[in-house]
Amino acid sequence: VRKKWVIGNWKMFTTAATAKQLAADVVKGVGGDDRVGVGLCPPFPYLPIVAEAVRGSPVELGAQDCYCEKEGAFTGEVSPWMLADIGCLFTLVGHSERRHKLGESDDIINRKVRAALDAGLYVVLCVGETLTQREAKRQESVLLFQFDAGLSGVTAEALKRVVLAYEPVWAIGTGKNATAEQAQEVHHHLRRRAAVLFGAEVAEKLPFLYGGSVKPDNAHALLTQPDIDGGLIGGASLKAADFLAIVKAGLP
Ligand code: 13P
Repeated sequence: VRKKWVIGNWKMFTTAATAKQLAADVVKGVGGDDRVGVGLCPPFPYLPIVAEAVRGSPVELGAQDCYCEKEGAFTGEVSPWMLADIGCLFTLVGHSERRHKLGESDDIINRKVRAALDAGLYVVLCVGETLTQREAKRQESVLLFQFDAGLSGVTAEALKRVVLAYEPVWAIGTGKNATAEQAQEVHHHLRRRAAVLFGAEVAEKLPFLYGGSVKPDNAHALLTQPDIDGGLIGGASLKAADFLAIVKAGLP
């Protein structure tokens, strides 16, 4: 049975002071309990502050994005090797806000995935369809395309450090979550695709997180689905009590 993970994506929120406090509150709430994996993704400038706050606790540190090169003349970009260097365990890649607001292509996302894996990080690869795509019943082909493209060139061995996150764009920050059944169906489908590409054994171990308006009151229904292995939490991760309630909903 796969361990559940609950990851907070703070997006472009918090200050140095509130990031420190929020991380401290999460660390305190989690205590020594590692039955549910917990990760926090603060904005880049606050990574060292949160690294300090989570040190010695089971709470893991992740970044929200990275670049696809080790080093070089790439003004403003952040290397996954730098993230590993300051204590990140993982990074998100391909978040829908980067796909749709910053124009990231499946090609750059794939290069980021491979660079982050080369740097030794775990990767949370995000995929998700827009409302228009779902209304046109195209979600399946869109998701399969993003999945295949994002993982192109990734070996079955490296896939052990990949986590998938299904985040339907229409459910992010809208208060409209996918139903547990809708999310389960997508996860099941993508897991079958993973089995085709990487083999059944690896696919069975691949964790699938759901993201999109996960709140304390819907977390239990979502996190108890057979193919939902956790949550990627935006808004509700900014309040320690709400985030910790979601972590609790993931308990076995
Ligand atoms: P919300 O939980 O605010 O809908 O955001 C989800 C998300 O994008 C997490 O990465």
